[in-house]
Amino acid sequence: MRQSQVTEWYHSIISSQVEEGGTYVDATMGNGQDTLLLCRLAGKQGKVWAFDIQKQALQNTENLLSAHGLCDRAELILDGHENIDRYLSPESADLICFNFGYLPGGDHTIATRAETSLAAIRKGLEIIKHGGMMSLCIYSGGETGFEEKDRILEYLKELPPREYTVIANEYYNRRNCPPMPVFIFRS
Ligand SMILES: C[S@@+](CC[C@H](N)C(=O)[O-])C[C@H]1O[C@@H](n2cnc3c(N)ncnc32)[C@H](O)[C@@H]1O
Repeated sequence: MRQSQVTEWYHSIISSQVEEGGTYVDATMGNGQDTLLLCRLAGKQGKVWAFDIQKQALQNTENLLSAHGLCDRAELILDGHENIDRYLSPESADLICFNFGYLPGGDHTIATRAETSLAAIRKGLEIIKHGGMMSLCIYSGGETGFEEKDRILEYLKELPPREYTVIANEYYNRRNCPPMPVFIFRS
């Protein structure tokens, strides 16, 4: 039996939903693990856009993609995801994924923030195609605090159910603020 580590589980849901040749967005590039998955899923015809505000993230991701010979599938952008609408037009992406928090192994004080995360989610929900999805892995507690998680969940609860189906998952019996994977499907 396979254990349900959050990243593995989150990746398996994403993989089950996407098809080769699509347009995918990693809104929080970090060390590039999600970008790598999306590049694999995109295939030769697909395209991945990845955003981060730290040069270190772009460097780490470029190194990772290069080690797998997949650099040509991704556009690595040094800009905040709140500016996503400068790069992608409405209804143009099949999937947008967010993995909030700070760069693993990097400066923990540079992390996603409620205000910019919400702006990016709002814009992203217009950018995903009908039939597309958004995935969010939300962290809380510790240095991250609770504001970002609380404000995102408050916002998602009010999304019109005819257009967006929001599925929020929780590790029900795990202590110490476990991550919360959320999937949003656009009708
Ligand atoms: C938890 S990490 C992402 C992990 C990553 N997906 C991976 O596979 O390694 C969160 C990343 O979000 C980035 N970030 C923070 N604010 C951002 C913003 N406004 N726009 C884009 N990225 C941001 C951080 O620099 C950090 O690298």
